[in-house]
Amino acid sequence: EPPHEDVRSSARHVAKEAARAAGQPLRELHGQTESIEYKTDKSDIVTEADYKAENIITTVIESEFPDHGIRSEESVQRPSDGECEHTWLIDPLDGTGNFAHGNPNYSISIALLENDDPVVGVVYAPETDELFSAIAGDGATLNGNPLSTTDRTALDECMLLSGYDPDGTFLSHTYHEARGVRRLGSAALNLCYLAAGTVDAVWEYDTYPWDVAGGLVIARAAGATVTNADGQPYDPTAELDARNELIGSNGPLHETLLSHLSDADALRTATTGATD
Ligand code: IPD
Ligand code: CA
Ligand code: CA
Ligand code: CA
Repeated sequence: EPPHEDVRSSARHVAKEAARAAGQPLRELHGQTESIEYKTDKSDIVTEADYKAENIITTVIESEFPDHGIRSEESVQRPSDGECEHTWLIDPLDGTGNFAHGNPNYSISIALLENDDPVVGVVYAPETDELFSAIAGDGATLNGNPLSTTDRTALDECMLLSGYDPDGTFLSHTYHEARGVRRLGSAALNLCYLAAGTVDAVWEYDTYPWDVAGGLVIARAAGATVTNADGQPYDPTAELDARNELIGSNGPLHETLLSHLSDADALRTATTGATD
């Protein structure tokens, strides 16, 4: 086994190659709604392109790292859960809804976990040719240029991103206090925008580990704080098949946002009796 640093830097390189290779068919199939299949409901969809991208990425990774585990959203579930020191967490197409409707906000997300620690992240946006990547503790880049989070502390000067927000929890508690709240459609890219400083914070109500593992490494390497709703560091391996809440910020804003979220939770519990 080569030392960790070598595995990490070759993993970053291979993941970038895999993401670029998968980006090609995505650009060609972008905007085609014919191949939409429903997984559960009208918004939970998958297309021919998701499978194509998945196949390209996993083939590249398997050939370079045959003894690593792979978990990828649509199909591949090779040994993991502690059986391998290294496991890849892949979302071959994050933002399938946008993709199918011809919106450019979609991405490919690839992360490498080392003993459950996310250590390498690569997120690629094929339409804009933006390649974000990072190695934990070693800085994040966009097309080779270093990234860092903002240092804003006043919410009224901040731009926030929200994921799916079923009962308006985040929107209703931040909209009137922030400069702006946006909802774009790729959780992986949301975290990259946090890393790049084009937004100051992001919130996901319920996200799968593969949606955010790549962006998590990139955001943290750029200086972001990324936690669960209790303020504990977000851990994508806590529940590999479950959706969880995630809040990411530039750091200075974190406490303020956590308190907005806990007010929102309290309100939701009071009005619906729900505890989740
Ligand atoms: C979805 C995107 C979206 C988020 C959904 C995810 P998919 O991933 O990340 O932004 O709001 O919760 O399921 O299915 O397009 O890979
Ligand atoms: Ca999906
Ligand atoms: Ca996703
Ligand atoms: Ca996906």
